Amino acid sequence: MSGLLSRHLVLIALALASGHDHTFEVRLHEESGALQLLQQKLAFGEPTLLEAAEPIYWLHCAKCGSSFINALIHLPGVCPLASSLVVDEQSLGDCYMEKWKFECPEACLAKKFFCPHFSDAFPHQPIDNYTARKGALVGMFRNPEQRILSAYHDDADNFATVNYEDHLQDLLAMHVSGSLNMSVCHQPVPGLSKVPVLEFAESWKGGMTYQLVVEHNNLHPTTQTLDPDRPKMTRADAEEAARRVREGFSFVGITEDWDLSICLLHKMFGGACQASDFEDTRPSSETKSAHADYDIDELMGWHDDVDRVVYDAAVEVFQGNLIAYGVSHDSCRECYSHAERGRVQTA
Ligand SMILES: *[C@@H]1O[C@H](CO)[C@@H](O)[C@H](O)[C@H]1NC(C)=O
Ligand SMILES: *[C@@H]1O[C@H](CO)[C@@H](O)[C@H](O)[C@H]1NC(C)=O
Repeated sequence: MSGLLSRHLVLIALALASGHDHTFEVRLHEESGALQLLQQKLAFGEPTLLEAAEPIYWLHCAKCGSSFINALIHLPGVCPLASSLVVDEQSLGDCYMEKWKFECPEACLAKKFFCPHFSDAFPHQPIDNYTARKGALVGMFRNPEQRILSAYHDDADNFATVNYEDHLQDLLAMHVSGSLNMSVCHQPVPGLSKVPVLEFAESWKGGMTYQLVVEHNNLHPTTQTLDPDRPKMTRADAEEAARRVREGFSFVGITEDWDLSICLLHKMFGGACQASDFEDTRPSSETKSAHADYDIDELMGWHDDVDRVVYDAAVEVFQGNLIAYGVSHDSCRECYSHAERGRVQTA
């Protein structure tokens, strides 16, 4: 297939160079529809889906899957100097997401991947300028109640701890004068006392919406996605956030459907599936994989009816794309086996 393709690319190049389309057209009629389309696109310079989405901007929704970073930076040509790097604790050690921020501009091409700025001390930044990012956004979205329970039980990040604001202050202190002060990078502290689960749920409610709609956040450094006192989101905010998911994202994945999401990403943007695409870099606890569900009875009937609107939109886009790109566990077998993913997860 690739030999055939490159032979035809030479033909196309020759035809274009000579100014005559004759040879090119004759050869095209011999090929299958899909290859024809690809050749036409290449001949007429139409960008691929990946090129059209660049520079890729990852909306890193909190608890939707940090390991998605590895699938993105290994997309073809995006981060040439990160091809053998896996962004995880094993490779980069403690505070690896903070360290990656400093590696990113070296490893990735600015015209292909948007690297968060060093001075953005806080993780899970909002989009900030939707107009500028529209069409280049990619992200995973998670069932709102699962997302919140996952955060509540995440003892590696202490999200639910009493006085979480102090942890945000530590993050600020870690980012000093354009570098990282690693003496402020703390190991997770087990057994800290937590706020009650419903109080936590209320403070995290609408968090995906917040990241999608808040603009010019840098002007308000105390207002941050993970700040328990950040502004509350309304149903109107959620409707706008859902519109952005439908219209502004070049790729939408679903945390619950991780394997299909990764397979879809590669079907759309190219590149082979890799084991690191499937690695759960931040499981909430040793015994809990990212794929098992939390028991929502813990929330006693409480629902995040703001982020539900966003999640429903994301699922709709995702399912539409599964159909449009012919992605199913069956059609993803090659992807899974290339990534040595023997066991297929179902959500
Ligand atoms: C947002 O991005 C647009 C398009 O790139 C730009 O014209 C505008 O100035 C930006 N707004 C802010 C507040 O930076
Ligand atoms: C790094 O953090 C430690 C602990 O808070 C502090 O004592 C030290 O002064 C900081 N270093 C710099 C360069 O800011």
